Amino acid sequence: MLELGPGTGVITKAILATGIAPEKLICVEFSPEFVGHLRANYPGVNIIQGDAFNLDDTLSDKRDTVFDSIISGVPLLNFPVHQRVAYIEDLLARLPAGRPVVQLTYGPKSPVPPGLGNYTVEHFDFILRNIPPTQLWIYRRAHAS
Ligand SMILES: C[S@@+](CC[C@H](N)C(=O)[O-])C[C@H]1O[C@@H](n2cnc3c(N)ncnc32)[C@H](O)[C@@H]1O
Repeated sequence: MLELGPGTGVITKAILATGIAPEKLICVEFSPEFVGHLRANYPGVNIIQGDAFNLDDTLSDKRDTVFDSIISGVPLLNFPVHQRVAYIEDLLARLPAGRPVVQLTYGPKSPVPPGLGNYTVEHFDFILRNIPPTQLWIYRRAHAS
């Protein structure tokens, strides 16, 4: 499994609580401070410091890994729409067909609009108890390409 933008590791902790082996989880975080915190708190997890928008370089020798799912907390609303679409398309290319990319966002709408690429958009959940409240969106391959 791949987690992008784990920050303080709240979701990392929840993923590990499902029983996944730490070495099966790869986390990519841009901030060196958060990376230090994550490495100290989640031994065994592959914590990589780097840019989620440039995963081939960031993942290095793991770039060809086929993940079973991806969760992203990277703040997509800070980026133009064409870059968000390219981001989701890149993530979907790292999953088997039908498997999900889950994206967290603080806005009311999907940060990646439907109809701009080979993906479906599904609202998954609204987590009111998160600070700030967070929407979860799921993206999947629309058809084989
Ligand atoms: C909203 S926070 C994630 C919150 C996290 N889920 C938590 O509960 O602590 C977004 C995170 O994405 C990281 N980030 C932002 N841009 C990134 C990028 N291009 N590549 C990797 N991480 C990035 C930030 O450093 C920050 O830790």
